[in-house]
Amino acid sequence: MEKSLTIIILAAGLGTRMKSRKAKVLHRAAGKALAEHVVDTALALTSADHVYVVTGHQAGQVESLLAPKGVRFVRQTEQKGTGHAVLCCEPAVEDKTGRVMILYGDTPLLSVESLRRLVDLHESSGVAATAITTLLDNPTGYGRIVRTADGEVMAIVEEKAANAEQKAIREINAGIYSFDAPLLWKHLHDIRPDNPPKEYYLTDMVEILNAGGHRVLPMVVEDSSELLGINTRLELAEVDRILRSRKVRELMLEGVTIERPETVCIDAEARIGPDTIIEPFARILGNTVIGSDCLIGSCSIIDRSRLADDVHVLPFSIVATSEVETGCRIGPYARLRLENHVEAGAHIGNFVELKKTRMGKGAKAQHLAYLGDSSIGAKVNVGAGTITCNYDGKTKHQTLVGEGAFIGSNSTLVAPVEIGAGGYVGAGSVITDAVPEDALALGRGRQVNKEGWAKRRRETC
Ligand code: UD1
Ligand code: CA
Repeated sequence: MEKSLTIIILAAGLGTRMKSRKAKVLHRAAGKALAEHVVDTALALTSADHVYVVTGHQAGQVESLLAPKGVRFVRQTEQKGTGHAVLCCEPAVEDKTGRVMILYGDTPLLSVESLRRLVDLHESSGVAATAITTLLDNPTGYGRIVRTADGEVMAIVEEKAANAEQKAIREINAGIYSFDAPLLWKHLHDIRPDNPPKEYYLTDMVEILNAGGHRVLPMVVEDSSELLGINTRLELAEVDRILRSRKVRELMLEGVTIERPETVCIDAEARIGPDTIIEPFARILGNTVIGSDCLIGSCSIIDRSRLADDVHVLPFSIVATSEVETGCRIGPYARLRLENHVEAGAHIGNFVELKKTRMGKGAKAQHLAYLGDSSIGAKVNVGAGTITCNYDGKTKHQTLVGEGAFIGSNSTLVAPVEIGAGGYVGAGSVITDAVPEDALALGRGRQVNKEGWAKRRRETC
C-alpha cells in the first residue's frame, strides 16, 4: 500500500515587499489567489483532510477563501520561522505516518509532476527526506545546498549565515521537502533558534537528521522558473504571465485556435472547447466555460459565463455572469452585464445592454437597446432604441414580452408591463399599460401635417 501523504502549506507571512495591506497569498495570478493555486496542486497529490494550511496574517480571509476546498487550517499567530510554522501543525495533524510534504503559499508555479518526482525519489531511495533544489545564476537571498562527497545534502545554509565559499554555491534550497513523517515529528523539537533573527529554521532539520544517521537527498528541478516565489509585484506579474502562457499553450494543444496568444488573457480555471477561435486581446476570466466552434472577438471580455457551442461574440463585447446557448450572435459592442440567459439562436447586436434578462429562442435585439429585468419571448424582435424603464427610483420592475411580439424602434416600456404574445408596439411608443395578445399598441402623439407651412415661413422671415 502507498504511504499516506500529509501536505503542510506555509502561508502565514505578510510579504512586506509586496507593499500591500493584503496578505501576499491573497494576491491573484491568472485569476486565482496564490494560495488557491498551491492548494489545488496539493489536492492533486493527496486528500483534502491531509492538507494543512498554516495561516497568520489575515488568517480569517485566507481561511474563508480556502475553506470551500475542504482543507484544514492551523494558526501561527507569531511568525517565528518555517520550523516553528510546521511545529504549530503538530497538535492538528492526526495521521503521523507516511510522509509530510512542505509547500509555500507564495510559490504557485510548482508542477504536480515535480512534486510526484520528489515523492517517488523519497519512496525509491528510502531516505529520511528529499528536498527540491535548483541552480541559479544569482542565488542571493536563498538557502544554499551544501552537499556531501556522495552528493547528498549535508546542510542548508541561509544567506545570512553563509561564508564566502558557501555564498558561491549556485544550488539553492527551494523550501519544498518530503519528510519521513515519524522522523520529522520526532526531531522537529530539536530545532533551536540559534541564529541572529532567533527563528526556528526548518532547514536545520537537514543537519539534525544527518546527525541521527539519516540521509537527505536533493532533487534538482531543471526549470528553475517553477520555483519562482513571489516577493514583489514584479514577480507577481511574471508568475501571472507564466501561468497564462502555460494555459494558452494547453488550450492550443487541445484544439483551440488562439491568434496572437501573447495578447490574450485567459484565467487558469477557464475551459474552452476545440475549434473555437480566440482573437487577439480577448480576456476570458474566472470559471468561464466556452463550447466548441465559438468565436471570441478581439478585445471582448467573457467573465464567469457559460457559452454553448457555435456562439459568436464579436469584437469589443462584454459577457459577464451570463449563460448563452448555442448559435447565438453577440456584438460587436454588446454588453451582457449581469445574470442573463440568452437562448439558442438569439442575436444581441451593437450597443445593446442586457441585465437580468432572458432572451427567448431566436429573439433579436440588434441595435441600441437596454433590456433590464425582462423576459423576452421566442422570436421577438426588439427594435433599435428600445428601452425598458425597469427602475422607478426605488424598486426594480419586470418587463414581460410574449412570444413573437414586435417592439417598434425607440419604444419605451415602463415596467411593470406586459406585452402579449404576437403583440405589436408602434415605433416611438411609451408603453405603460399591458398590451393584449396580437394587439397593436400606439402610445405616442398623433402626427399633424400643416400644408405649405414651411414654404410660407421661408417667404415671410
Ligand atoms: C526559506 C528557506 C530558504 C529557501 C527559501 C526558498 C528557511 C529557514 N529558509 O527562506 O532556505 O531558500 O525559503 O524560498 O526555511 N512562513 C510562515 N511562518 C513563518 C515563516 C515563514 O508561514 O514563521 C511562510 C512564509 O509566509 C513563506 C514561506 O513560509 O510563504 C517561506 O518563508 P520565508 O520567510 O519567505 O523564507 P525565506 O527566508 O525565503
Ligand atoms: Ca521567501
